[in-house]
Amino acid sequence: MTETGTVAFDLNDPDVIADPYPHYARLREHASVHHSTAPDLWLLSRYDDVVLALRDATRFSSDPGTGGDFADNPFNPSTSLPGWATRLIDRVLPTRTLLTSDPPEHTRLRKKVSRAFAPRRIAQWEPRIREITESLMDELADRAARGESVDLVRDFASPLPTIVIAELMGIPAARRDDFKRWSDHLIDGLLTGGDTRRMATSAAAISLFFARTVRQRRRHPGEDLVSLLVTPDADGVLGTMDLIVFCVLLLVAGNETTTNLVSNAVHALLDRPAVWQQLIAEPGLAAAAVEETLRYDSPGQGLLRCTTTEVRLHEVVIPAGARVLPLVGSANRDPGRWDAPDEFRLDRNSNDHIAFGVGIHYCIGNALARMEARAALETLARRAPALSRAGHPIRIPSPVLRGFRSLPIRIEP
Ligand code: HEM
Repeated sequence: MTETGTVAFDLNDPDVIADPYPHYARLREHASVHHSTAPDLWLLSRYDDVVLALRDATRFSSDPGTGGDFADNPFNPSTSLPGWATRLIDRVLPTRTLLTSDPPEHTRLRKKVSRAFAPRRIAQWEPRIREITESLMDELADRAARGESVDLVRDFASPLPTIVIAELMGIPAARRDDFKRWSDHLIDGLLTGGDTRRMATSAAAISLFFARTVRQRRRHPGEDLVSLLVTPDADGVLGTMDLIVFCVLLLVAGNETTTNLVSNAVHALLDRPAVWQQLIAEPGLAAAAVEETLRYDSPGQGLLRCTTTEVRLHEVVIPAGARVLPLVGSANRDPGRWDAPDEFRLDRNSNDHIAFGVGIHYCIGNALARMEARAALETLARRAPALSRAGHPIRIPSPVLRGFRSLPIRIEP
């Protein structure tokens, strides 16, 4: 529970998780720099403040080791790690991921992995991504024809990014289920209050898996992304630990977020039959629907930072070493930035939302995620125009991940 001035706000309150937007509106208006005591976090809710913090990597560090004690996870305070996992983490922790490093380390890492995500390289994947969405759609239609239940998350939005990233990394289809299970366990333990022991076991399994993959690709490079990353270029090559950690990061950063983007888009469209009809009539609007979903219902609601020095914002002093949560989901609904921000509309220019972050950590997978989501919506609009709900959706119980565990749908033949 938290207090600042007259505003009480509990990030983990189920009502806030179900619909955070009215709560963000209160924060933006009455306590735009808000101190939450449990968990101990400073929440930034206005667009300008969120952008300021994300652009200022000097004062707002992404490195969990800077100042704050990140051993206590604000999004999963309930469980503790087994001793062996703590020792493993202590060994791995000095290897900063792209996401959790600051310059100059971040600059070095980002330079080395950027070529793998160059827009031209990602664009080459479009035909294959369309094939994958079509075949997932075939399976959805078959399930519906057999009278079986259809769940948009389980049967479509969740397998899509897993298959895509596994193929990009050259991982055999037979390992896809392991891949997905490990990734789910990591996300669960980190962000949704799930079992941290299971998370630690999966983290160990996935690290071992990528250690073997990296060794194999060094001996026999192919055309895949891991082979590209082990091949030296003008900027040199990543060390083994950096490579393993980056591969794990790709899985964790890309799977759940893309699934949630597709699910959030379909959820918003099911609530707005007129907009859905617009999309059916003009599938090219899928790109606008993707951008508006990213703004309206951002898959990642908040990003973690740590102050390296005392920071004064709107007469509020955030101490050095404090954990800060710039609320991207709130910034994207700020009426100071958007007209009628609570309306979902395809005719606005939502492209400059900040769902992919801002500044040096801007999402490296944004083109891939956008392409997958566009293909998913176009395929659904073309092949399942009579899409409707078939039961109650179940939300992911997390204050920072916005999406669904389950979204039952009906597909008319
Ligand atoms: C809708 C889907 C996605 C969303 C909403 C999303 C969101 C974000 C955000 C907000 C950041 C910045 C984090 C920060 O500033 O702390 C980020 C960074 C990152 N994302 Fe994504 N992401 C998505 C998909 C992907 C995909 C598909 C991949 C890769 C396969 C990916 C890989 C990464 C990586 C590696 C970073 C770290 C970049 C850096 O620190 O320089 N993301 N993402």
